[in-house]
Amino acid sequence: MSKIVSGFSKLTKQEKIKWVSTLVDDASTQATLVNQLAPPEKTQKIFDGLSENVISNYVLPFSVAPNFLINGKSYCVPMVTEESSVVAAAASAAKFWALRGGIQAEVLSMTKLGQVHFSWNGPKEDLLHIWDELLELFRVATKDLTKNMQARGGGIQKIELKDFTEVEPEYYQILVSFDTKDSMGANFINSVLERMADLLEDFVGSHPHLKAYQLEVIMAILSNYTPECIVRASVECDLTEDELPGCGHEESRTVAHKIHKAVRIAEIDPHRAATHNKGIFNGVDAVIIATGNDFRAVEACGHAYAGRNGQYTSLSHCELTDNKFKFWIDLPLAVGTVGGLTTLHPLAKLSLELLGKPNAEELMQIVAAAGLMQNYAALKSLVTTGIQHGHMKMHLSNIINHLEASTLETQAILDHFKDKKVSFTGVREYLAQLRQKTMG
Ligand code: MEV
Repeated sequence: MSKIVSGFSKLTKQEKIKWVSTLVDDASTQATLVNQLAPPEKTQKIFDGLSENVISNYVLPFSVAPNFLINGKSYCVPMVTEESSVVAAAASAAKFWALRGGIQAEVLSMTKLGQVHFSWNGPKEDLLHIWDELLELFRVATKDLTKNMQARGGGIQKIELKDFTEVEPEYYQILVSFDTKDSMGANFINSVLERMADLLEDFVGSHPHLKAYQLEVIMAILSNYTPECIVRASVECDLTEDELPGCGHEESRTVAHKIHKAVRIAEIDPHRAATHNKGIFNGVDAVIIATGNDFRAVEACGHAYAGRNGQYTSLSHCELTDNKFKFWIDLPLAVGTVGGLTTLHPLAKLSLELLGKPNAEELMQIVAAAGLMQNYAALKSLVTTGIQHGHMKMHLSNIINHLEASTLETQAILDHFKDKKVSFTGVREYLAQLRQKTMG
């Protein structure tokens, strides 16, 4: 049972570990906590500074998926995921499409958004009356914050007043559009919004006519829903010449037909769409995490976008005309390649170097391509062998690791389960038999 502790944050790291260790009984779990990875002191200091009450490091596999050909340029894509088969699937789909012209990707727009939510109990006309003056004040008062961003070609793009009083009494909003160039821009956007919020309250509160009414700022914060920060990635092939991977020519048409149907199902059924999109985020998140970006923001945005028309639907689409197969994804992605974790975390830095130090637009294309490949690979498996076939192969190697089989035992297990259903109990029992035989 957990215990209440006061002043935990003031303890040293060792003291924190000691206290947390009292919550876990198993000695080996305690040892894991204490010994978890021992990076160089300098690196550990960076990790310790990323969050609060840090007592250890939580390690995830860092993988690469080679053979991504995007807009004619080849990439070896870094992926961080704990889920087996994800990287293998992405790499195999990427290679298949690399041999068919690769993936085409383009950024359709790069606008990020922030909001100042406030209530106002006066007439709307009074707000409109001072709006132009306010706009000018906003620009002047945020100059010191926007100067650097403007020098990089970004900054505030648009400031709009939104009236929500029909759905919520006295509720208005200032919606601000930003271009944050190669940074994700969360701190920049929030700083600008908070400055605007203060100014709005001060200005209205001291205005000779308006101060008779009440304006109350509720909050000022960026919106993680950025439907105008969109990238499209697509692949296509001619079914008269090409074959879908692992299929003969005729079979290839059947597979194309089934993938097309599978996408249609995800387009019309939210239950399937959630799983379908989860598969897309298997790829997207893995690259987002590897490059030190915010996967919660990216997921929140992607799912909000998938429900933008009132029904949750597929993020990818497919077109099958005569002999042509076309498969694409439109994905809202707010990512950065400068600032934040991208320069702090050694593996995020390495990931970006591996990708040739892309700018934000290029990274958006790479991430969307990873999502598309992941989705293609999942659908291809689902409509042919079924998903368990590939999963089980990877699952088997995890089970073997878990059971600490020797090299000889591993080979025997792999041979034995080549054409059999894999289960943890099955492998454990088979290994026990093997060991008994060896002992006997
Ligand atoms: C598993 O992590 C992802 C899949 O379920 C995706 C899908 O069903 O499309 C295989």
